[in-house]
Amino acid sequence: MKNLVVLTGAGVSAESGIATFRDAGGLWEGHDIMEVASPEGYAANPSLVLDFYNKRRAQLKEVSPNEAHFCIAGLERNYNVNIITQNVDDLHERAGSSKVIHLHGELKKARSSKNALEIQECDGDINLGDKSADGSQLRPHIVWFGEEVPEMDRAIEIVSKADVLLIVGTSMQVYPAAGLKDYAPSHAPIYFVDPAPALDSSGRLTVIKEKAGKGVQMVVDLLSF
Ligand code: APR
Repeated sequence: MKNLVVLTGAGVSAESGIATFRDAGGLWEGHDIMEVASPEGYAANPSLVLDFYNKRRAQLKEVSPNEAHFCIAGLERNYNVNIITQNVDDLHERAGSSKVIHLHGELKKARSSKNALEIQECDGDINLGDKSADGSQLRPHIVWFGEEVPEMDRAIEIVSKADVLLIVGTSMQVYPAAGLKDYAPSHAPIYFVDPAPALDSSGRLTVIKEKAGKGVQMVVDLLSF
């Protein structure tokens, strides 16, 4: 089976009702992104940041995967599919996708404040005083701005073996994730689905200016010819 790599951003979950980041004028649910997504923001106001992610985690119980997540999951019938997502939600998994790498972490996990690799499952709230196994304060397992992206090497290896690359719903503004497409082998066609795409079609890159639900289905139709 051919290797299909899917790189997703906030736009793939937009039709599930989860707000994207930059479409809301740089605010994330009313917060400056550096206030809630940087080590400095966390140091300045840990309880605000914990509460912010507690709300995002609770929101997961209110939302469901959309057509795009299901369509991507269905590609496993014909391809060896690897998803590399920048999203911290679990909608790809809930749609049935089996191989998902979360570049920026996962809401449903918590980690030690001292060691990014000391990770545990987390279904409820994280509060000040909750401790990891190493005795440090538990924090969300989210890669904040300025922090290392531990899954990056694995992601590069996967993209470098792609026969087809599908990119969905990302502003292509945040590195190193935005640079991943450059690792796709030269024989691999690249499809990019986004209603306000940051790139234009050229060479092997085909841009489909549609929302994820419709656009991913269009790519599936193109691939089946
Ligand atoms: N379908 C597809 N794409 C959509 C839809 C939709 N229904 N609605 C919006 N989009 C697109 C927007 O046009 C935009 O290009 O989704 C993209 C969302 O961009 P961002 O909000 O910047 O999200 P993303 O690219 O995932 O952000 C990357 O930045 O804030 C950090 O760590 C955070 O993982 C995040 C990273």
